[in-house]
Amino acid sequence: MKELAPPLEVRSQSGAYTVQFLDVGDPRSWSGLGTHVVCDAYFVPRATDAGVTTIAIEATEQGKTLEAMAPVVLDLREKGVNRDAHLVAIGGGVVQDVVTFAASIFMRGVPWTYVPTTLMAMADSCIGGKSSINVGTFKNLVGNFHPPRTVVIDTSFLKTLSAAEIASGLSEAVKICFCKGKDAFATYLALYEKEDRIPLLRHVLATKIWFIEIDEFDKKERRLLNFGHTWGHALEASTDYAIPHGLAVAVGMIAAIELSGVASEELFAHARELLRSAFAQSPLPPLDRSRFLKTFRADKKHKTDSYRLIVPQGDAVAEISVPKDEATEAKVFAALERAIGRIW
Ligand SMILES: NC(=O)c1ccc[n+]([C@@H]2O[C@H](COP(=O)([O-])OP(=O)(O)OC[C@H]3O[C@@H](n4cnc5c(N)ncnc54)[C@H](O)[C@@H]3O)[C@@H](O)[C@H]2O)c1
Repeated sequence: MKELAPPLEVRSQSGAYTVQFLDVGDPRSWSGLGTHVVCDAYFVPRATDAGVTTIAIEATEQGKTLEAMAPVVLDLREKGVNRDAHLVAIGGGVVQDVVTFAASIFMRGVPWTYVPTTLMAMADSCIGGKSSINVGTFKNLVGNFHPPRTVVIDTSFLKTLSAAEIASGLSEAVKICFCKGKDAFATYLALYEKEDRIPLLRHVLATKIWFIEIDEFDKKERRLLNFGHTWGHALEASTDYAIPHGLAVAVGMIAAIELSGVASEELFAHARELLRSAFAQSPLPPLDRSRFLKTFRADKKHKTDSYRLIVPQGDAVAEISVPKDEATEAKVFAALERAIGRIW
């Protein structure tokens, strides 16, 4: 396997691991990364043609529900996975969430290697070690930490992604850099102009590693990375996932700008460009206020007596606590409406 760029190191309390940049586009190389390949159903025909046996996962929000975990665990058992196994996961954030969770509980835990295939997963979710599992209609309600032993990135997977999926990944990437501060954001904007995505990925991952190493378990700094997510998750769930995750976060970042009154013009312009590059016209159905607020209220990041929001402040972002009442909910929803009006 050819090395495409130098590796990065993640030194987390739940495990130290490396992010390698290797040429693994050919499915025949996947078996060399572990004992059993678990992949997005999208890649199964390619793997089968190459003679590689796989365990398939449907990359849908339904596919990463708690209810969907029992069939996955049974499938692992059926395919002969045991305590000596080492899983190789090939896919985007959904496959990552499913394999993180399944690998952590199967026979009390088996090791795994992750090959992210979406830009969102390469730039953001592949490091951090979290699983996020849906329960009923509640997104990412349960989860745990079980990082892979190694992450292997090959940007050739990006060639088959839709414009919306590319914009979704870039939205999460710019969010990480904006949250770190003006230098990281300026470097992101400069690297965004380059055609080769590896330098941009190395910058974004190095920035996220800073958050993970300083606050792996979301006690303080890492919580800032929820910027855009409180609106984003509620928007996703209340529109039946009309837009990819990262783009919902991009709308959420603009809503947070609207709520805070802090202009953040460069971030607004970039997030709007990403959204418009994916959808010239808004793909969102008319907003359903009560559905949106129901999921907004259920966000696990809120406190018992106040809503917790991440909003722009100075050159970066800050966490604020606001009263849990109808007046706040009206402001939150109005900010979302204004954001959508400014984007499209
Ligand atoms: N656990 C975490 O830390 C974390 C962080 C961020 C997001 N997430 C979760 O990740 C999920 C979103 O993941 P995602 O955006 O990576 O996409 P995804 O896994 O939902 O996949 C999106 C679509 O792209 C397809 N696809 C995947 N790779 C492809 C490729 N190379 N070419 C063509 N099609 C391809 C999939 O089959 C699917 O149809 C959400 O459920 C989100 O909640 C988890």
